[in-house]
Amino acid sequence: MTRIEERPMRAIILYDSRTTGGSTDRLIDSIGRELVESGAYVEKAKCRALADYSFVKEFDVVILGAPVYYLVVSSQLLGALVQSNLKKNLRGKKIALFLACGSPEPMALTFYLPQLKVHLVRNRILAEKIFAPHQMDDPETIGDFVEEIEEEYRKANKSRTRSTGIQWDDEALEILDQMPSIFSGKIRATMETYAQQNGITLITPAVLDEARSSPMGF
Ligand SMILES: Cc1cc2nc3c(=O)[nH]c(=O)nc-3n(C[C@H](O)[C@H](O)[C@H](O)COP(=O)(O)O)c2cc1C
Repeated sequence: MTRIEERPMRAIILYDSRTTGGSTDRLIDSIGRELVESGAYVEKAKCRALADYSFVKEFDVVILGAPVYYLVVSSQLLGALVQSNLKKNLRGKKIALFLACGSPEPMALTFYLPQLKVHLVRNRILAEKIFAPHQMDDPETIGDFVEEIEEEYRKANKSRTRSTGIQWDDEALEILDQMPSIFSGKIRATMETYAQQNGITLITPAVLDEARSSPMGF
């Protein structure tokens, strides 16, 4: 699948909360509305630890968020990352993270956010935000978070074609994302040189295979 640059961003908000109609529900509706107003296609889904998350593949950006209860990020979201196929389906996805909690931000950044980030070490994190209780209905704070997601998403897409004009399709990028970061920059540059020399404008998994078996190799 090749992404067309002008296509609206497709985002899904995967969230959890013990409270129906509580502060998290209101917050995700506000985040969703802001994204839709700026032209994105948005869906939301409440997490269950043992659900099937293959639908996540259809989205460009996955926004993960939940409140903290008794020092732990809400359990169905954490459970989904540990027990289901969510983590597998997040491979190569751009992520935004938020937490809702009553603790001061430094504590949340040190003790709560890493509970999510430890599962996302290979993902590109576009934005992360700790929402304090007084910020959860604040349009300006929510607007800033959404703006950061959109801005970083645009930058990430631009960097696909940055120096050479060569594009990567989603599957090829996913393969690149799975490589250790100390090698991926070099492999990317090597592949783009290979593509230029061979008149290729779009790098796909087939092109990666072809390059691997060429004398230039990886
Ligand atoms: C039972 C309970 C336990 C909580 N524990 C914590 C906590 O350990 N650390 C924290 O920062 N906030 C804690 N909070 C604050 C919640 O994270 C915060 O109020 C959040 O916005 C609640 O989201 P909800 O309205 O969707 O349930 C707790 C709130 C409740 C009700």
